[in-house]
Amino acid sequence: MPRPYIASRSGEPLHRRTFDVLVLGGGIAGLTAAIAAARRWRVGLLTKSTFDDTTTFLAQGGIAAALGPSDSPELHFQDTVNAGAGLCDEEAVRVLVNEGPDRVRELMDICPRFDKVDGQIVLGREGAHSVARVVHAGGDATGSEVSSALAEAARVGSSVQLYENEFVIGLLTVEGRCVGALTLNLDDGGLTLNVAMVTVLATGGAGQVYGRTTNPPVATGDGIAMAYRAGAAIRDLEFVQFHPTGLAVPGQETVQLVTEALRGEGAYLRNAAGERFMISYDSRAELASRDVVVRAMVAEMRLEGSDHVYLDATHLDAAWLHQRFPRVTAGLAEHGLDLATQLIPVAPVCHYFVGGVVTDVWGRTTVPGLYASGEVASTGVHGANRLASNSLLEGLVFSDRVVRDLDRYIGRLGEDVRRLRFDLPEATADADGSDAVSARHRLTSVMSDKVGVLRRGDDLRAALADLNALTSELRFASLGEAEYELLNLLTLGTQIAKCALLREESRGVHLRDDFPAVDDQHWRRHVTLRLPTHEREEGVIGKVERS
Ligand code: SIN
Repeated sequence: MPRPYIASRSGEPLHRRTFDVLVLGGGIAGLTAAIAAARRWRVGLLTKSTFDDTTTFLAQGGIAAALGPSDSPELHFQDTVNAGAGLCDEEAVRVLVNEGPDRVRELMDICPRFDKVDGQIVLGREGAHSVARVVHAGGDATGSEVSSALAEAARVGSSVQLYENEFVIGLLTVEGRCVGALTLNLDDGGLTLNVAMVTVLATGGAGQVYGRTTNPPVATGDGIAMAYRAGAAIRDLEFVQFHPTGLAVPGQETVQLVTEALRGEGAYLRNAAGERFMISYDSRAELASRDVVVRAMVAEMRLEGSDHVYLDATHLDAAWLHQRFPRVTAGLAEHGLDLATQLIPVAPVCHYFVGGVVTDVWGRTTVPGLYASGEVASTGVHGANRLASNSLLEGLVFSDRVVRDLDRYIGRLGEDVRRLRFDLPEATADADGSDAVSARHRLTSVMSDKVGVLRRGDDLRAALADLNALTSELRFASLGEAEYELLNLLTLGTQIAKCALLREESRGVHLRDDFPAVDDQHWRRHVTLRLPTHEREEGVIGKVERS
């Protein structure tokens, strides 16, 4: 397999930028970190596409925080840990629920459009929350409202230097420490060395590894893959959260999410016979945790030989539904569907990566100088199953902590990384290049067919053989966005399949048909992966000189 971090064109000059803090990613975690860090440091933020092309931008449900009179951080803690199926890091969850309310209040200063009635914030209900605690903006347009407000704050209210369409090819590491990133500009093809004392990974998730996902096309797992190549520990990749209610109609590039908040407002799930089947699976019915709902849906779909069930909101007031859920309404209308009058076909769809780059409660990864926040990180708050609407909160809380820790890290640096010189080796090209598009199609088919929502050992072994064959066949005539993305997706897909095969139990969102029970004795633990030192990226970054 070609090394994805090698400079792809020989002879061309590399551009160079230097920052104190380099933030990679333009969603809630990246923007929050960059805005806060820029109060003190020289900050650059790079995003692969634009600020309205992120997973945050698409978020519908909202942000969970103990803000209501009948709520408390302790209740939020209990709900999070219960949903996490025995694998939550309780210290990290305490941080999340205790610091969450203040971070959400601060966000409300930047984004004043959170929904209120008579001056009081409106709290929504979602699965496995014991009280209503989800704040939202523009009904189900929370993600776009929050993204737009944060991007505006970064553009006009801060000194952050913003770069769009900058695709990170790899992290720069020197003597085991991260000192920035190498990027490819997607407009002009230029390569840039972005050198920084600290790098914050906030590159989001990897839904594109399954092809059918609620994530946008940019979600190709770049951050997890590049951190792994640089020697960072990653973990829990088998815990891929499938959202129960993706719209089940063909021909969607990004699968339309039909937000869980609809069930929170009283919508039902029905099988083909019209029965509210969740009642017979869990006392919380449609508001059970996501893993429970997905298991029940899969069982019903198997019984019926169907690939979907239905969401029924027809008993709710039509005008109110359209006003409370404008994005879902508009998305469904594109497929000729109406929430208020029709049953909506829904099926589980890849939605969120619970696992990721291991961090402590300050967002520090195992590579000095490299922090991670948001979906790319594994802080331990989600355990084996993320509680609805805890993800935007995680980005807010842990990005704030990253910035609070910078002082300590930057203050301790004994040398100025700005003076480092890099000598990148050139890429070797093969005359007959593989077609990255068809290879990617093979990858997503393997992942969907053999490493999907319900897994079996035989399938997982076959998937690993397929992915290894695919990897060893790859030859590239040149390296561009499609090839780099493919390499990242292959890294992710292979590690997901490995972890899923290893975990011989069903826990949280990881469902094994051949091991249907939880096995606390052997598996109440994480699966952590780390490249051996000699395989890490630093080995090929080449000679480093200090001027
Ligand atoms: C949703 O709106 O259902 C998604 C919210 C989330 O994933 O937390």
